Amino acid sequence: MALASKMVHEDALVSAEAWAMLGCSDLEPYTAWDFPDQGAGTARYGDATFNGVTPALAALNLVRRYTRPGDLVVDPMAGSGTIADVARSLGRRAVSLDLAPRRRDIVRADARAWPLPDAIATLAVIDSPYSDNLVYSDDPRCLGRISCKDSRFYRQMARVADEAQRVLRPGGVLAWVISDEYKGGTYTPVGFRLQTVLASRFEFLDTVVLLRHHDRSASPMWEHHARRYNFLLRGFKFLFLMRRPAGPRGGVVYGRRAGSYER
Ligand SMILES: C[S@@+](CC[C@H](N)C(=O)[O-])C[C@H]1O[C@@H](n2cnc3c(N)ncnc32)[C@H](O)[C@@H]1O
Repeated sequence: MALASKMVHEDALVSAEAWAMLGCSDLEPYTAWDFPDQGAGTARYGDATFNGVTPALAALNLVRRYTRPGDLVVDPMAGSGTIADVARSLGRRAVSLDLAPRRRDIVRADARAWPLPDAIATLAVIDSPYSDNLVYSDDPRCLGRISCKDSRFYRQMARVADEAQRVLRPGGVLAWVISDEYKGGTYTPVGFRLQTVLASRFEFLDTVVLLRHHDRSASPMWEHHARRYNFLLRGFKFLFLMRRPAGPRGGVVYGRRAGSYER
């Protein structure tokens, strides 16, 4: 703001109103996103009561930044369907997959084998289990049954990433939400470990910190325990932003289409 007002006053090329209008956007400009509620105004996206639900405003930011109307958005671990609801409300096409579909528009499928052809999606959004803290279904293939301390966890996530790479068109974007774990006195840097898996397949665009709210651990009792027993509660999740390399040597085609926003 200081810079803006200085420029307005020094050269008077841009009016104060024009500067104010530049700020009239709900797209996040920084790498820390803080959405106190799951919802976005009165519209309903997904199910705010679903354990592990993705903030709708995070999905809105992703869809608007990385797709255009008519583009295909895929969510292979759809849960309550937040990503598809947001994508469709913005005129995008959407495919939702989940081992345990909670709605009729969600197709039962394993995220390690998407029933989709190659190179058709512009954006894939994955909000995966990050350990065995939440078992989402009775299906033994549920990835929420594998501890993040187990190397199998990262091998299975690599298979999900391979599918994302196959189904995304060259230059398409993968957004992946993941949290670290502190359990039984042990900290596991899940985000950094997953990032290593993903970095060998995708070109990283950025890392966003998604502040956590509504967690069951966000209670006075857990906060007291964290202080008394000297550990830290998880205050954020990672949101990794990556692009499927477009060129044979992994070079990225970063044209207007992918680089513009506000659609
Ligand atoms: C954190 S939730 C997704 C939340 C969702 N984005 C929302 O807003 O409601 C993770 C989902 O992954 C699903 N899941 C776990 N293992 C899976 C697998 N192997 N294939 C497909 N889905 C899986 C679970 O059933 C669960 O619905």
